[in-house]
Amino acid sequence: MQAVGVIGAGQMGAGIAQVSAQAGYRVLLADAKREIAERAKEGIARQLNRLVDKEKIDGATRDQALARIEPVGDFAPMASAGLIIEAATEREEVKRAIFEQVGKILGHQAVLASNTSSIPITRLAQATPDPKRFVGVHFFNPVPVMGLIELIRGLATADETVKIVETYATAIGKKVVHANDAPGFIVNRILLPMLNEACFALGEGVASIRDIDTAITMGLNHPMGPLTLADFIGLDTCLEICKVLYSGTGDPKFRPAPLLVKYVEAGWYGRKTGRGFYDYSGDEPVPTR
Ligand code: 3HC
Repeated sequence: MQAVGVIGAGQMGAGIAQVSAQAGYRVLLADAKREIAERAKEGIARQLNRLVDKEKIDGATRDQALARIEPVGDFAPMASAGLIIEAATEREEVKRAIFEQVGKILGHQAVLASNTSSIPITRLAQATPDPKRFVGVHFFNPVPVMGLIELIRGLATADETVKIVETYATAIGKKVVHANDAPGFIVNRILLPMLNEACFALGEGVASIRDIDTAITMGLNHPMGPLTLADFIGLDTCLEICKVLYSGTGDPKFRPAPLLVKYVEAGWYGRKTGRGFYDYSGDEPVPTR
């Protein structure tokens, strides 16, 4: 099996590295600094330990998976990778800068994929070494648990590129759905209006945080209420996706809720900053309103 390069060692990149290594791929994991990738590997070790504790995998399987993950300080070792997945911050200029660097090392047959949740693939492709070998591969959080990958072709994406990513997705046990290169693809096009509407409802005093979440978990049987899920995804990410939907379609139904904007302006991004609609400083999340 050829190696997989993963660029970005945050919650998505670490999850992608984990499931790739568990499927038998050698993984080269990079972030802005090698130490960040090393810390991510420690986090993956903790996740794998939990699986051992629950007797889902044995200790030898954990050790083999971990041994396949190599934190790297620059992209040069990824020259041997058959597939490089970019899972960096959801900011176009960050991704473009990464693609420029990847262009110096990407193998002649290798595929470059972006885990963007909303930036148009055809536009991003212009910053890549070869748009024929570029594709969108959208994972869901938490990656080890969620069974889906959205595969998004840009205008220039070759059939062979799609096949390579489909083979990889099957190997890591994910189901692929194909989406056109339209704002938000499938899932975020449908999910974000719900999360955004929950922010409007809260801002307009329709109900409390707890009751909005309880209504949706118990009334619709969703695993998480919309405000809990928004905190889980990150309110900054939610706002970015709303902006892409709004600017990409021009449709006012996608305008970001003022309360969502305010929370992001306050730096209350959700779980990752310890506070969003809930406060995460104690044992249990506590609603902030
Ligand atoms: N990493 C790995 N495994 C995890 C995990 C994580 N971060 N969080 C939970 N799990 C595992 C648990 O170990 C447990 O495994 P088990 O059944 O084998 O024991 C299983 O998931 C269930 O976890 P819990 O019992 O602790 O908790 P829940 O039953 O509440 O499930 C959840 C947690 C799976 C996160 C569930 O609440 C859920 O599915 N929530 C919705 C998540 C969702 O919608 N994700 C998509 C977000 S949108 C997105 O990512 C796109 C982006 O572009 C915005």
